[in-house]
Amino acid sequence: MFVSDCLGVNQQGHLTIGGRDTLELAETYGTPLYVMDENEIRRACRSYIGSINKYYDGKGAVAFASKAFCCRAMCRLAAEEGLCLDVVSIGELHTALSAGFPAERLYFHGNNKTVEELTAALEQGVGRIVVDNPTELELLNQLALAKGTKAAVSFRIKPGIDAHTHAYIRTGQIDSKFGLALETGEAMATITAAAKMEGIAVKGIHCHIGSQIFDVEPFEDAARVMLGFMAQVKQATGLELEELDLGGGFGIKYLPEHDPVEYERYMQQVSTVVKETCAKLGIATPFVTIEPGRSIVGSAGITLYKVGAVKEIPGVRTYVSVDGGMADNPRYILYQSEYDFVAAARAAQPKDRTVTVAGKCCESGDLLGENVALQEVHPGDVLAVLATGAYNYSMSSNYNRIPKPPVVFVKDGEARVVVKRETLDDLIRNDLL
Ligand SMILES: Cc1ncc(COP(=O)(O)O)c(C=O)c1O
Repeated sequence: MFVSDCLGVNQQGHLTIGGRDTLELAETYGTPLYVMDENEIRRACRSYIGSINKYYDGKGAVAFASKAFCCRAMCRLAAEEGLCLDVVSIGELHTALSAGFPAERLYFHGNNKTVEELTAALEQGVGRIVVDNPTELELLNQLALAKGTKAAVSFRIKPGIDAHTHAYIRTGQIDSKFGLALETGEAMATITAAAKMEGIAVKGIHCHIGSQIFDVEPFEDAARVMLGFMAQVKQATGLELEELDLGGGFGIKYLPEHDPVEYERYMQQVSTVVKETCAKLGIATPFVTIEPGRSIVGSAGITLYKVGAVKEIPGVRTYVSVDGGMADNPRYILYQSEYDFVAAARAAQPKDRTVTVAGKCCESGDLLGENVALQEVHPGDVLAVLATGAYNYSMSSNYNRIPKPPVVFVKDGEARVVVKRETLDDLIRNDLL
């Protein structure tokens, strides 16, 4: 009935998440409110870990892309479930380490890591630094030499795959700010140089072709290209790369008509391609890492809002305004992301009207959905936006000086606040005058 299995309807006809009544949650914790079903997140983690172990014979790892949802509770959960973690900034690194996440299970990504970030990564013993470009490689080598250490690195490669997704979340083609190009010889030249550097230990290569991808083929193609390049590196330099990180990007169900590939099927098909290609090329099967973000947390989360004004413009449209918007969910204004909406008190009733859900920020584009189907709603009602567990809290801002909402985890009928609501004083904490 809903886009996520953790959602349901109780006897009162109210929307539930993880067995909890969303109206009660909104009443207890206020709105806007992010709610995540912890069991759903753990289920996704276990399913990924189980299938990577199965299809790569225990020679694989799952790194949660923390950019999708980064807070200490999530880092702790990922550690407990045996995942690695992808971080892209000193802030994500700090969050992970402060939650006790083991540094050796961290992958440090990013296309423009600062000296401060690279230094912290070396000092903290981050497992892999994923080098993006020759400038960074040079800098990292110098920093490692100065510290008398060796940085274990992987290289971000652009495999040149078009993953049929929104231009802003497509990253594997040559015109991308991320990574090293194969076509121009940049990738080969950079790795060849790295192999001679005293401060660098070359471990593998990495790619990430985009996000919210519904086909297996682009992942298979990327694997073939990456393995082909590994074979070329071996032939040209004698260097045998041991690790292949195939990134994340697996799509989730935002709308009822979305039909994501089952992660088990993805793993089975891509691992077959990996093994067959390695055999054909005469290289050893590498240790394979994947980096799902959205598909671990996206479906586990919803956002609850309180409806304010309902503005009917005859012959034009009906605006339903809510007490949040682009500050807590900038994905609509960024890339017109689509969501499923539910009037929490009438969750089982048919969606018999078409409305535009507007945020409260001072931007005309601050919408959460345009011309979406919804049940009857009135001022004061609770409105749920579904599948908001990824890239919502983590992308939230204080635009218009709106305090960020709290994050509540529900598990087996119990709810706990894992990130508290920002206060008005939080907003002025760093103002000096
Ligand atoms: C390097 C890298 N890995 C993994 C991910 C996670 O992608 P997704 O959330 O689509 O699985 C991203 C997303 O931008 C990324 O840049």
